[in-house]
This record gives sequence, C-alpha cells and structure tokens, in this order.
Amino acid sequence: MSNSAATLAETSEAEIAVHWKEEGYYYPPAQFIGQANLTDPSIMERFSEKNFPECFREYADMLTWFKYWHTTLDTSDPPFWKWFVGGQLNACYNCVDRHLAKYKNKAALIFVPEPEDEPAAAITYQELYRRVNETAAVLRDFAGLKAGDRVTIHMPMIPELPVTMLACARLGIIHSVVFGGFSGEACGLRAADSGSRVLIYADSYWRNGKLADHKAAAEIAVDVAQKEGQPIDKVLVWRRYPGKYSSAAPMKPGRDYFMDDVLKDCSRTRVEPASMDAEAPLFLMYTSGTTGKPKGCQHRTGGYLAYVTGTSKYIQDIHPEDVYWCMADIGWITGHSYIVYGPLALAATSVLYEGVPNYPDAGRPWRIAERLDVNIFHTSPTAIRMLRKAGPDEPKKYDYHFKHMTTVGEPIEPEVWKWYYEVVGKGEAVIVDTWWQTENGGFLCSTKPALDPMKPGSAGPGLPGIYPVIYDEEGREIPAGSHKAGNICIRNPWPGIIQTIWGDRERFVRQYYQKYCRNPQSKDWHDWPYFAADGAVLASDGYFRILGRVDDVINVAGHRLGTKEIESACLTVPEVAEAAVVPVVDDVKGRMPEVYISLKPGVSDGHRVAEKVTAAIETMIGKIARPKHVHVVPDMPKTRSGKLMRRVLAAISNRMEIGDITTLANPDVVEQVRRLVQGEARVPTREGPEDLRRFGQEA
Ligand code: WTA
Repeated sequence: MSNSAATLAETSEAEIAVHWKEEGYYYPPAQFIGQANLTDPSIMERFSEKNFPECFREYADMLTWFKYWHTTLDTSDPPFWKWFVGGQLNACYNCVDRHLAKYKNKAALIFVPEPEDEPAAAITYQELYRRVNETAAVLRDFAGLKAGDRVTIHMPMIPELPVTMLACARLGIIHSVVFGGFSGEACGLRAADSGSRVLIYADSYWRNGKLADHKAAAEIAVDVAQKEGQPIDKVLVWRRYPGKYSSAAPMKPGRDYFMDDVLKDCSRTRVEPASMDAEAPLFLMYTSGTTGKPKGCQHRTGGYLAYVTGTSKYIQDIHPEDVYWCMADIGWITGHSYIVYGPLALAATSVLYEGVPNYPDAGRPWRIAERLDVNIFHTSPTAIRMLRKAGPDEPKKYDYHFKHMTTVGEPIEPEVWKWYYEVVGKGEAVIVDTWWQTENGGFLCSTKPALDPMKPGSAGPGLPGIYPVIYDEEGREIPAGSHKAGNICIRNPWPGIIQTIWGDRERFVRQYYQKYCRNPQSKDWHDWPYFAADGAVLASDGYFRILGRVDDVINVAGHRLGTKEIESACLTVPEVAEAAVVPVVDDVKGRMPEVYISLKPGVSDGHRVAEKVTAAIETMIGKIARPKHVHVVPDMPKTRSGKLMRRVLAAISNRMEIGDITTLANPDVVEQVRRLVQGEARVPTREGPEDLRRFGQEA
C-alpha cells in the first residue's frame, strides 16, 4: 500500500464521526403559508420516483413552447441525458415577450447604482423588450453573430449585462459570462476555451466608492485569448454613462466599439426570437474544479429554463407582484438562475444592485429594501456574516418586511442563521438554505418554504424530483441518522444538470460519474449517480447538512476557486520552486486561500517574492483569490514518493492536530514550518471543521 493510500484508509470519510448539536425546528409563519405558491404536500408524491421523469412536465409546463416535446427524458447515451426532446422554445421570449400582454408596464429590473445620490432606474418589461431587441440586432447585424456562436461577456452588475444575455438567448448565441471581479487574464483564457471571437465589456463601474476602470482588462483578455490561439475581432463596450467614456484604456479602431454608438443604427429594430431546440446550449459558465483549468459548464435551453422557473416558483416563492432581490453577482450561477432567468420567466421584479453590500455603511441593504419594498431577499452566508459584524443592529432601523429569505453558497453557522432569522428577517420571514452547484442549474436540497420546518445549519431534504443519497468511499449508502459523513450524490438525472463540459465529454464523465457508476455499459439512469464532491451528513429527519468540498476546491466567500489554479499562478513567479495552496478558516469569508512557497536555490528575498506571488494571483485570477498569507518555507512536507502533503499544511494553517507524519520523507520540516507559521510556542490545536480535516487526503 502506498503512503498516500495509507493516509486515506486511516481517515476515510465514512469513519469521520460528525459531532454536532441537533438544532431545533423553526416553523414557517402562517402569513407566509397563506400566500405561498407551494402549499400542497402531495408534491413529494407527485415528484416521487414512480412518477419520474414525467413529474418534470410540471416545470416545463410553466414555460411557453413553440413546439411541445415528445420525450421527457432520453437516457440512450448515459450520462449525457437529454430533456424535453423534440421541444422548441426561446429563453428570451419566455423571460420577456410573453409577459408584455399582461405586464408591459411593470418593472422587470430595478437597477440600484452604488452611489446613493444616483437614482434607482426601473426598467419595465416593455423597455426591456426594446433594449433586448436592439442589442440583439447589434449582435446579429453589426457583430455578425448567429445561433451556436459563443460570446464572452465580462461585465459588472449593470442592467446592460442581463440585456446582453437575453439578446444572446434571443438569437441562440451561447453566452459565457465571466464574473466582473475576475482579471483580464482569466477572461482571456475562458474566451479562448469557448472559442469566442467577440468580447463584450463595460468601461467602468462603481465599487466601494470608486469608479473602477474595467475596459483595461479587455486589452489583457484580447492578448491572452490571442496567445491561446483565439483571435478576437470585436470588443463591444457598454459605457456606464452613455456618451462619456470612463476608462484610461484606448479604444482600438476597427476592433473596439461603443455600444451606445452602434445601437443608434439599430434603434427600433425588432429581432424575431429564434426557435431553439430544447437541447441547444443556452450558456457556458466557467467554474473551478480539481485541475488547473476552469471548466465550461454547458447548460441547455429547455431543461435549464424549466428547472430554474419551477424552483423559483416553488422554493423562492416568486409571484409577479413580488419585489425580489438577490444580492449575488450575475457573473456566478446564482445570478444567472436566480437574478435573471428564473425570476424573469415568472414576470417578477428583480433588483440589481451595482455595488458592495456595506457601501457606504452596513445599513445600505436595508435602506434599499425599505425604499423598494423588497419582500424576497437572497444572499450568501459571507454577506450575512459581514453585515452582522459591521452593523448588527442596522436592520432594526429600517421599515422593510421580508416574507422570504435565502442563504446559498456555503454552509451557514447556526448562530449566523439565527441572526439572519431574528434580526434581518425580524422573525417574520421564512428562510431557505439552498444547496446546489454551478453544474446543477438550480437548487438540489432545501426545505419547501411553506411545507417544511427550518433547521439552522441544515439545507434540508432533496427538492421535489431530486433523490439525494450519501455514499461512503466504497459506494455503500450511509443511512440517515448514523452521524457519519460521506459523499452526497444525486441518484437521478434532473432537467437543470449541465449537458457536458464544453469541449470535454470525457472530463464530464470522469468528474461526476466515474466514481459511483455501477456499470458503464448501462443505459439505466439508476446506475449513474451524480457525484457532487461535497461532504454531507443525513439526519434521521431526512435533512442534509452540507460540510463542504471534498476535492481541491476552496469556497471563498461563496465563490469557487481551485487550489491548483492558484498554485499555477504562484509558479509563474520565476523565483518560486514549489507552491501549495490550502484553505484557512476566516470568520467572515468562510474560507480563504493560504499559500506556501519554497524558493529556488540562491533566491533570498522571500518577502519580495511573497509580494510578487500575491500580485501574480491577482493578475492571473483576480482579487477574490488574494491569499490570507503567503508563507515562505525552507521545504515542503512530502511523502517518500515525493507527493506534497497539503493536508499537513492545512492542519498547520488552521491550528489543527497534524496527525501522523512518520511516513513522510522529511518529518522535521513539519516542525520548522509550524514554527514559522504559528511561532515558537506550541499552540493548542483544535478539531477543526470537517472539510479541513479531509482536505488533501486524495492528493
Ligand atoms: C457550496 C453555488 C453549504 C458547496 C450555487 C458546493 C453550499 C459549492 C451551499 C458550489 C449551501 C453551495 N450550504 N454549502 N446551501 N450551496 N454550497 O458552483 O460546497 O459556485 O459544492 O455554486 O458551494 O459552488 P458554486
């Protein structure tokens, strides 16, 4: 048995007993139940295995189809499931056109600029229709794009972002939105992978009181894409203030164009929504995985839109009368599904806030909520922790009333949940803790807001039509109530799952299905459980508590970053010999990356190299990946076969028990590194959270 296998066997997930206090239930307020979309408990029966997959017609029937489908689920090429086969629809038509008859004068989007003296702008469905049509005309007639082409959109939270996405969807162009906080490099690599020849940018945006220059990133993105073999012929630039350019980056003639200029030729143009196959890709969303290269999660049109619409209606409880505010960024999957596609498909009013939540102070979100009379609020544990730290009593000062609140993206500590419930929600709102991933399209586990009691810290049961299970390393089911952690999997396909990883079918199979596939020849979906790469525990009441990633992904402030991606950024600094990145607990962001580097022989100025490493990470990925610390160490702890022991470094960073190191090639290094990080005196160790105890075992 190899050394790493020995370590793995010692602490396999199934053997980690999870000790945590069972929290008591909270019940949905009667007032919420009285108005909820989903109050019929027979939903679970309707979506039970005996009615699968036809149960998902209920979601697809919430959409308007140009042509009805003939096969709900096609399993002939596992695990490449096909949904609503034969059907045709248009996502933009479903989010915009079909609402005009009834709601043309209702706000579709309310844009709240970060500067408080700049007024909020309501965009009605009619206005959205006009803007989307004219933008689609630019994409088609000026940029020469057609259905199936890919376009990379690197934009902040301004209304032109959803307008551009919907314009793409109208024509069947596959959009790939890159989070605005990512660097130009990160954008260029994604543009190249997707084969985009057009980039769409914004010149600038407000963040933390400053008008940030965003167009500068486009220059880098174009160069990087070019180096990767993907020429960029056009960069279309939305100006934050039309007519006034707010970036220092020059506009390159013949390549760069201001959208407000080229739109002039398309004013009043109407573009027919393309009738798209249900299986036509709608968008790509790049996300981090175990290897260095981010993967393009490819979402389909029909299944995805049906799934986000159904879950927005039943789990988010969205009605057209609601003012719904999801504080996520559209550049992440949460924003795609639950700011843009789901809410707009239901004719809701979706609020778009440009800036940071605590600008200029921690009362800002509550002022926005009061002013717009927001009644559904959706955010992440990181934002909740931050607002609680900065202004624990702020919510009380404002007269707003939420009926419903969501937490998403990371595990939420029960104390933080209770503050959210009591202070932010004023004890009046129901909370859903929704667990899901970029690959999933929409929620997988959550309580049904009017039907199930809430339990702080637990996501809840599988959604209707989702059959989760926890397996141990050998694929044995870990029963409910056993207090053992394992790998959460979904036994069945569902309409929101990605079709594949863009251009890499093999990686799709390997990443999500290889681990627990019972028979690679089988065409029966029962043999193909989806492996989510999250650890979880199942309580006897059927509620799942999510513990965090079991792979090399760090969840920083609810954003997924690959340790390998950060390590490769470190290695671009020529003085660095080796680099290891581990997650470290942070009381606001949940986890942050911490970097260990060793220097090449003859290099002595560790401090300067550490600064270069931080700069390289910000350039290659973005500020969100900035490490908490960079430790310059004499050597890395390694196994005799030369494998870098990230588990040991994670234990040092988090002051956890280091465990057995006798099998290492250089056990003395461990104490040297420990002193460097923790100081001379031995600090008391702690048990540490489950995801950190497991971190790096498989390396
Ligand atoms: C984590 C975000 C605990 C999980 C929608 C998952 C959560 C990763 C929760 C996906 C939750 C998401 N409780 N952990 N309610 N929701 N996660 O792809 O580790 O950005 O694998 O999708 O976030 O992150 P992603």
